[in-house]
Amino acid sequence: MTGTPKKIRVPDLALMKERGERIVMLTAYDATLTRLFDRAGIDLLLVGDSLGNVILGFDTTVPVTLDAIIHHTRAVTRAANRALVVADMPFLTYQVTAEEAMRNAARLFQEGGAAAVKLEGGRAVAETVRRITAAGLPVMGHVGLTPQHVHRLGGMRQQARNDEAAQELIQDALALEDAGAFAVVLEAIPDAVAEAVTSRLTIPTIGIGAGPHCDGQVLVSYDVLGLFDGFVPPFVKQYAQLGQLILSAARNYANEVRQGAFPQAAAARPNGTSVLAEHEHKTGSAPRCNSKELSAVSLVEEFTQP
Ligand code: KIV
Repeated sequence: MTGTPKKIRVPDLALMKERGERIVMLTAYDATLTRLFDRAGIDLLLVGDSLGNVILGFDTTVPVTLDAIIHHTRAVTRAANRALVVADMPFLTYQVTAEEAMRNAARLFQEGGAAAVKLEGGRAVAETVRRITAAGLPVMGHVGLTPQHVHRLGGMRQQARNDEAAQELIQDALALEDAGAFAVVLEAIPDAVAEAVTSRLTIPTIGIGAGPHCDGQVLVSYDVLGLFDGFVPPFVKQYAQLGQLILSAARNYANEVRQGAFPQAAAARPNGTSVLAEHEHKTGSAPRCNSKELSAVSLVEEFTQP
Protein backbone atom coordinates (compact mmCIF):
# COMPACT_ATOMS: atom_id res chain seq x y z
CA MET A 1 0.00 0.00 0.00
CA THR A 2 1.16 3.55 -0.71
CA GLY A 3 0.44 6.62 1.41
CA THR A 4 0.42 6.85 5.20
CA PRO A 5 -0.65 3.52 6.77
CA LYS A 6 -2.45 5.09 9.75
CA LYS A 7 -6.12 6.05 9.64
CA ILE A 8 -6.66 9.34 7.82
CA ARG A 9 -8.32 12.09 9.83
CA VAL A 10 -9.47 15.55 8.78
CA PRO A 11 -6.41 17.45 10.18
CA ASP A 12 -4.08 15.12 8.22
CA LEU A 13 -5.26 16.68 4.97
CA ALA A 14 -3.98 20.16 5.83
CA LEU A 15 -0.65 18.57 6.81
CA MET A 16 -0.55 16.73 3.49
CA LYS A 17 -1.03 20.05 1.65
CA GLU A 18 1.75 21.64 3.73
CA ARG A 19 4.08 18.74 2.93
CA GLY A 20 3.15 18.78 -0.76
CA GLU A 21 1.76 15.21 -0.56
CA ARG A 22 -1.00 14.65 -3.12
CA ILE A 23 -4.36 13.56 -1.70
CA VAL A 24 -6.07 10.63 -3.43
CA MET A 25 -9.85 10.35 -3.43
CA LEU A 26 -12.32 8.02 -5.17
CA THR A 27 -16.04 7.54 -4.89
CA ALA A 28 -17.28 4.36 -3.16
CA TYR A 29 -20.78 3.05 -2.68
CA ASP A 30 -20.49 -0.50 -1.31
CA ALA A 31 -18.46 -2.59 1.12
CA THR A 32 -16.70 -4.86 -1.40
CA LEU A 33 -15.09 -2.12 -3.48
CA THR A 34 -14.42 -0.08 -0.35
CA ARG A 35 -12.31 -2.90 1.10
CA LEU A 36 -10.26 -2.98 -2.12
CA PHE A 37 -9.86 0.82 -2.33
CA ASP A 38 -8.86 0.92 1.33
CA ARG A 39 -6.22 -1.77 0.78
CA ALA A 40 -4.97 0.18 -2.25
CA GLY A 41 -4.29 3.18 -0.01
CA ILE A 42 -6.94 5.60 -1.27
CA ASP A 43 -6.99 8.42 1.31
CA LEU A 44 -10.56 9.65 1.00
CA LEU A 45 -13.67 7.75 -0.05
CA LEU A 46 -16.63 9.83 -1.16
CA VAL A 47 -20.10 8.37 -1.00
CA GLY A 48 -21.01 10.69 -3.85
CA ASP A 49 -24.47 11.52 -5.04
CA SER A 50 -23.05 10.27 -8.35
CA LEU A 51 -24.54 7.02 -7.04
CA GLY A 52 -27.72 8.40 -8.62
CA ASN A 53 -26.05 7.89 -12.02
CA VAL A 54 -23.84 4.85 -11.58
CA ILE A 55 -25.84 2.80 -9.04
CA LEU A 56 -29.46 3.90 -9.34
CA GLY A 57 -29.61 4.63 -13.08
CA PHE A 58 -30.88 8.22 -12.95
CA ASP A 59 -29.79 10.78 -15.57
CA THR A 60 -28.84 13.35 -12.94
CA THR A 61 -28.00 13.48 -9.22
CA VAL A 62 -31.13 15.53 -8.45
CA PRO A 63 -33.40 12.57 -7.46
CA VAL A 64 -30.90 11.15 -4.92
CA THR A 65 -32.31 11.11 -1.38
CA LEU A 66 -30.67 11.46 2.01
CA ASP A 67 -31.84 7.94 2.92
CA ALA A 68 -30.09 6.54 -0.17
CA ILE A 69 -26.81 8.25 0.78
CA ILE A 70 -27.11 7.06 4.39
CA HIS A 71 -27.74 3.48 3.22
CA HIS A 72 -24.59 3.44 1.06
CA THR A 73 -22.53 5.37 3.61
CA ARG A 74 -23.23 2.64 6.17
CA ALA A 75 -21.88 0.02 3.75
CA VAL A 76 -18.75 2.07 3.06
CA THR A 77 -18.00 2.97 6.67
CA ARG A 78 -18.40 -0.68 7.71
CA ALA A 79 -15.62 -1.64 5.29
CA ALA A 80 -13.18 1.31 5.42
CA ASN A 81 -10.36 0.96 7.93
CA ARG A 82 -7.89 3.61 6.87
CA ALA A 83 -9.68 5.90 4.43
CA LEU A 84 -11.66 8.90 5.64
CA VAL A 85 -15.28 8.58 4.50
CA VAL A 86 -17.03 11.70 3.19
CA ALA A 87 -20.79 11.57 2.51
CA ASP A 88 -22.43 13.83 -0.06
CA MET A 89 -25.40 15.93 1.03
CA PRO A 90 -28.02 15.42 -1.69
CA PHE A 91 -29.96 18.12 -3.52
CA LEU A 92 -32.23 20.21 -1.27
CA THR A 93 -31.03 18.66 1.98
CA TYR A 94 -28.97 21.75 2.90
CA GLN A 95 -30.40 24.68 0.91
CA VAL A 96 -33.76 25.27 2.62
CA THR A 97 -32.63 26.36 6.11
CA ALA A 98 -29.42 26.04 8.10
CA GLU A 99 -31.34 24.12 10.81
CA GLU A 100 -32.53 21.53 8.32
CA ALA A 101 -29.01 21.28 6.89
CA MET A 102 -27.62 20.67 10.40
CA ARG A 103 -30.14 17.92 11.09
CA ASN A 104 -29.51 16.25 7.74
CA ALA A 105 -25.74 16.47 8.12
CA ALA A 106 -26.04 14.97 11.60
CA ARG A 107 -27.88 11.93 10.17
CA LEU A 108 -24.95 11.23 7.84
CA PHE A 109 -22.63 11.11 10.86
CA GLN A 110 -24.93 9.40 13.36
CA GLU A 111 -26.66 6.89 11.09
CA GLY A 112 -24.14 6.61 8.24
CA GLY A 113 -20.95 6.77 10.29
CA ALA A 114 -19.41 9.39 7.95
CA ALA A 115 -16.39 11.39 9.12
CA ALA A 116 -17.24 14.42 6.95
CA VAL A 117 -19.91 15.71 4.58
CA LYS A 118 -19.64 17.47 1.23
CA LEU A 119 -22.04 20.00 -0.20
CA GLU A 120 -22.15 21.99 -3.43
CA GLY A 121 -21.99 25.76 -3.78
CA GLY A 122 -19.89 28.75 -2.72
CA ARG A 123 -20.96 31.95 -1.01
CA ALA A 124 -24.63 30.88 -1.18
CA VAL A 125 -23.96 28.02 1.26
CA ALA A 126 -21.10 29.55 3.28
CA GLU A 127 -23.26 30.36 6.31
CA THR A 128 -24.61 26.81 6.34
CA VAL A 129 -21.04 25.48 6.19
CA ARG A 130 -20.19 27.76 9.13
CA ARG A 131 -23.09 26.40 11.19
CA ILE A 132 -22.30 22.75 10.47
CA THR A 133 -18.57 23.08 11.16
CA ALA A 134 -19.26 25.11 14.34
CA ALA A 135 -21.23 22.09 15.57
CA GLY A 136 -18.08 19.99 15.12
CA LEU A 137 -18.96 18.32 11.82
CA PRO A 138 -16.28 18.68 9.10
CA VAL A 139 -17.49 19.99 5.74
CA MET A 140 -15.90 19.71 2.30
CA GLY A 141 -16.98 22.33 -0.27
CA HIS A 142 -17.56 21.79 -4.00
CA VAL A 143 -17.40 24.58 -6.62
CA GLY A 144 -17.05 24.87 -10.40
CA LEU A 145 -19.34 22.37 -12.12
CA THR A 146 -21.86 21.47 -9.44
CA PRO A 147 -23.98 18.62 -10.86
CA GLN A 148 -26.96 19.34 -8.57
CA HIS A 149 -27.29 22.63 -10.52
CA VAL A 150 -27.35 20.87 -13.90
CA HIS A 151 -30.72 22.32 -14.89
CA ARG A 152 -29.62 25.91 -14.23
CA LEU A 153 -26.20 25.37 -15.83
CA GLY A 154 -27.86 23.86 -18.91
CA GLY A 155 -25.67 20.74 -18.94
CA MET A 156 -22.44 19.31 -17.63
CA ARG A 157 -20.02 21.88 -19.01
CA GLN A 158 -16.76 23.46 -17.94
CA GLN A 159 -17.18 26.48 -15.62
CA ALA A 160 -15.14 29.65 -14.88
CA ARG A 161 -14.18 30.06 -18.51
CA ASN A 162 -13.74 33.86 -18.45
CA ASP A 163 -12.03 36.25 -16.03
CA GLU A 164 -15.20 37.39 -14.35
CA ALA A 165 -16.43 33.83 -13.73
CA ALA A 166 -12.96 32.82 -12.53
CA GLN A 167 -12.95 35.71 -10.00
CA GLU A 168 -16.42 34.67 -8.80
CA LEU A 169 -15.21 31.11 -8.30
CA ILE A 170 -12.13 32.27 -6.35
CA GLN A 171 -14.43 34.33 -4.07
CA ASP A 172 -16.66 31.28 -3.56
CA ALA A 173 -13.70 29.09 -2.61
CA LEU A 174 -12.33 31.74 -0.21
CA ALA A 175 -15.78 32.07 1.42
CA LEU A 176 -15.89 28.30 2.00
CA GLU A 177 -12.44 28.37 3.59
CA ASP A 178 -13.47 31.29 5.77
CA ALA A 179 -16.62 29.41 6.82
CA GLY A 180 -14.50 26.51 8.07
CA ALA A 181 -14.53 24.00 5.19
CA PHE A 182 -11.56 21.61 5.49
CA ALA A 183 -11.14 21.09 1.71
CA VAL A 184 -12.82 22.10 -1.55
CA VAL A 185 -13.57 20.04 -4.65
CA LEU A 186 -12.91 21.97 -7.88
CA GLU A 187 -14.85 20.37 -10.71
CA ALA A 188 -14.47 21.02 -14.44
CA ILE A 189 -12.66 24.35 -14.46
CA PRO A 190 -9.58 25.48 -16.46
CA ASP A 191 -6.22 24.33 -15.06
CA ALA A 192 -5.07 27.93 -14.53
CA VAL A 193 -8.13 28.79 -12.43
CA ALA A 194 -7.63 25.66 -10.31
CA GLU A 195 -3.97 26.62 -9.87
CA ALA A 196 -4.95 30.13 -8.76
CA VAL A 197 -7.49 28.79 -6.23
CA THR A 198 -5.02 26.20 -4.92
CA SER A 199 -2.37 28.83 -4.30
CA ARG A 200 -4.84 31.23 -2.59
CA LEU A 201 -6.32 28.67 -0.17
CA THR A 202 -4.61 27.20 2.87
CA ILE A 203 -7.05 24.24 2.82
CA PRO A 204 -6.50 21.53 0.18
CA THR A 205 -8.21 21.60 -3.21
CA ILE A 206 -9.31 18.29 -4.72
CA GLY A 207 -9.64 18.47 -8.49
CA ILE A 208 -11.84 16.61 -10.95
CA GLY A 209 -11.36 17.80 -14.50
CA ALA A 210 -9.40 20.73 -13.08
CA GLY A 211 -5.85 19.84 -14.13
CA PRO A 212 -2.71 18.81 -12.27
CA HIS A 213 -2.20 21.78 -9.93
CA CYS A 214 -4.74 20.82 -7.25
CA ASP A 215 -3.63 19.36 -3.92
CA GLY A 216 -5.46 16.13 -4.67
CA GLN A 217 -7.61 14.39 -7.26
CA VAL A 218 -10.99 12.67 -7.17
CA LEU A 219 -12.73 10.57 -9.80
CA VAL A 220 -15.91 8.51 -9.90
CA SER A 221 -14.69 4.95 -9.26
CA TYR A 222 -17.01 3.41 -11.86
CA ASP A 223 -15.36 5.65 -14.49
CA VAL A 224 -11.83 4.80 -13.33
CA LEU A 225 -12.58 1.06 -13.42
CA GLY A 226 -14.33 1.16 -16.79
CA LEU A 227 -17.59 -0.10 -15.27
CA PHE A 228 -19.97 2.64 -16.31
CA ASP A 229 -21.19 2.43 -19.89
CA GLY A 230 -23.03 5.79 -19.87
CA PHE A 231 -21.35 9.13 -20.50
CA VAL A 232 -17.70 9.16 -19.43
CA PRO A 233 -16.28 12.70 -19.09
CA PRO A 234 -13.25 13.44 -21.30
CA PHE A 235 -10.97 14.17 -18.32
CA VAL A 236 -11.40 10.64 -16.94
CA LYS A 237 -8.59 8.11 -17.22
CA GLN A 238 -9.83 4.52 -17.22
CA TYR A 239 -7.31 2.35 -15.37
CA ALA A 240 -9.19 -0.86 -16.17
CA GLN A 241 -11.99 -2.15 -18.39
CA LEU A 242 -13.92 -4.11 -15.78
CA GLY A 243 -17.17 -3.70 -17.72
CA GLN A 244 -15.71 -5.86 -20.52
CA LEU A 245 -14.40 -8.46 -18.05
CA ILE A 246 -17.77 -8.70 -16.31
CA LEU A 247 -19.59 -8.98 -19.63
CA SER A 248 -17.37 -11.81 -20.73
CA ALA A 249 -17.57 -13.63 -17.35
CA ALA A 250 -21.39 -13.37 -17.30
CA ARG A 251 -21.59 -14.61 -20.92
CA ASN A 252 -19.33 -17.58 -20.13
CA TYR A 253 -21.43 -18.48 -17.09
CA ALA A 254 -24.66 -18.24 -19.11
CA ASN A 255 -23.21 -20.41 -21.89
CA GLU A 256 -21.96 -23.06 -19.47
CA VAL A 257 -25.30 -23.24 -17.62
CA ARG A 258 -27.23 -23.47 -20.90
CA GLN A 259 -24.91 -26.14 -22.25
CA GLY A 260 -24.97 -28.16 -19.01
CA ALA A 261 -21.23 -27.63 -18.51
CA PHE A 262 -21.72 -25.97 -15.11
CA PRO A 263 -22.03 -27.31 -12.49
CA GLN A 264 -20.05 -30.50 -13.01
CA ALA A 265 -21.39 -33.77 -11.58
CA ALA A 266 -19.95 -34.65 -8.15
CA ALA A 267 -17.86 -37.47 -9.58
CA ALA A 268 -16.14 -35.10 -11.99
CA ARG A 269 -15.30 -32.46 -9.35
CA PRO A 270 -11.71 -32.37 -8.04
CA ASN A 271 -12.33 -34.19 -4.72
CA GLY A 272 -14.93 -36.44 -6.28
CA THR A 273 -17.52 -35.95 -3.54
CA SER A 274 -20.31 -33.63 -2.72
CA VAL A 275 -19.38 -31.37 0.16
CA LEU A 276 -22.86 -31.65 1.62
CA ALA A 277 -22.98 -35.46 1.26
CA GLU A 278 -19.56 -35.76 2.89
CA HIS A 279 -20.74 -33.59 5.77
CA GLU A 280 -23.76 -35.83 6.24
CA HIS A 281 -21.56 -38.92 6.17
CA LYS A 282 -19.19 -37.49 8.81
CA THR A 283 -21.78 -36.14 11.20
CA GLY A 284 -24.73 -38.39 10.52
CA SER A 285 -26.96 -35.39 10.00
CA ALA A 286 -27.93 -33.23 7.09
CA PRO A 287 -26.49 -29.72 7.32
CA ARG A 288 -28.79 -26.89 8.22
CA CYS A 289 -28.05 -23.35 7.15
CA ASN A 290 -27.89 -22.12 10.72
CA SER A 291 -25.89 -25.10 11.95
CA LYS A 292 -22.72 -24.12 13.81
CA GLU A 293 -21.01 -27.16 12.23
CA LEU A 294 -21.70 -25.90 8.74
CA SER A 295 -21.53 -22.15 8.95
CA ALA A 296 -20.91 -20.15 5.78
CA VAL A 297 -17.27 -19.97 6.83
CA SER A 298 -16.84 -23.73 7.20
CA LEU A 299 -18.55 -24.26 3.86
CA VAL A 300 -16.17 -21.83 2.20
CA GLU A 301 -13.25 -23.56 3.90
CA GLU A 302 -14.42 -26.95 2.68
CA PHE A 303 -14.84 -25.66 -0.83
CA THR A 304 -11.41 -24.09 -0.85
CA GLN A 305 -9.45 -26.96 0.77
CA PRO A 306 -7.01 -28.49 -1.76
O1 KIV B 1 -20.90 12.75 -6.42
C1 KIV B 1 -19.72 12.68 -6.79
O2 KIV B 1 -19.22 11.65 -7.23
C2 KIV B 1 -18.92 13.89 -6.71
C3 KIV B 1 -17.54 13.85 -7.29
C4 KIV B 1 -17.62 13.86 -8.74
C5 KIV B 1 -16.68 14.94 -6.77
O3 KIV B 1 -19.37 14.88 -6.21
